[in-house]
Amino acid sequence: MTYDIHNQKRKQKGSFTHALKHRSGLNVIFKHEEKQVFHMLGILAQEPFELIIELGTHQGGLTKLMEDIFPSLPIHTYDNVDLTRNNRKYFGEKVYFHIESVLVPSRSLIKLLSDPAKKLLYCDNGKKKQEVEMYSQYLYPGDLIAVHDWGNEIFWEDVQSYIGDWRRIGWPTLEYIGSTTRIWQKV
Ligand SMILES: C[S@@+](CC[C@H](N)C(=O)[O-])C[C@H]1O[C@@H](n2cnc3c(N)ncnc32)[C@H](O)[C@@H]1O
Repeated sequence: MTYDIHNQKRKQKGSFTHALKHRSGLNVIFKHEEKQVFHMLGILAQEPFELIIELGTHQGGLTKLMEDIFPSLPIHTYDNVDLTRNNRKYFGEKVYFHIESVLVPSRSLIKLLSDPAKKLLYCDNGKKKQEVEMYSQYLYPGDLIAVHDWGNEIFWEDVQSYIGDWRRIGWPTLEYIGSTTRIWQKV
């Protein structure tokens, strides 16, 4: 078995913490509900993108799952707290850890977003609304943006004027399974 994901705790409505024991030896918690995360990754796997940017690394649990599912893609992950310092050895050379706040305009992040490669921007920092406000403007047509904690921490009125008219990706499935992730593609 590749993964051992256990100890699901529902801390509050829609907020989950799981332990992830990975075959590499990485043993961390990650903050997604198990079924939801694999549905979401399955939907994303059907989309052609070449670069992943995650805002909110935490302990790197989702980063690791994304590395498994998209092994050929570079992943840049940002957090203002370095919680992965002792676990870098479990990640491949295509995973880049950026320790900085994304709530002040991040030059390195803006540079990455300006890369012509097709991108996935995954917003999972504590302030998703600000992330969408600050960074969706740099994405190109064809790029994807996803937000976690939809309906709990980020709502339609928060995104409407930024990405409201972008193409919705996988929403019927995400809604059906009660996922708190939503995905859009810039048109
Ligand atoms: C919900 S956790 C991320 C969970 C992770 N994506 C996962 O699935 O396991 C949110 C993270 O955002 C980080 N964070 C909070 N404020 C931030 C900021 N201003 N800039 C960058 N990261 C920040 C926190 O340190 C925390 O690790």
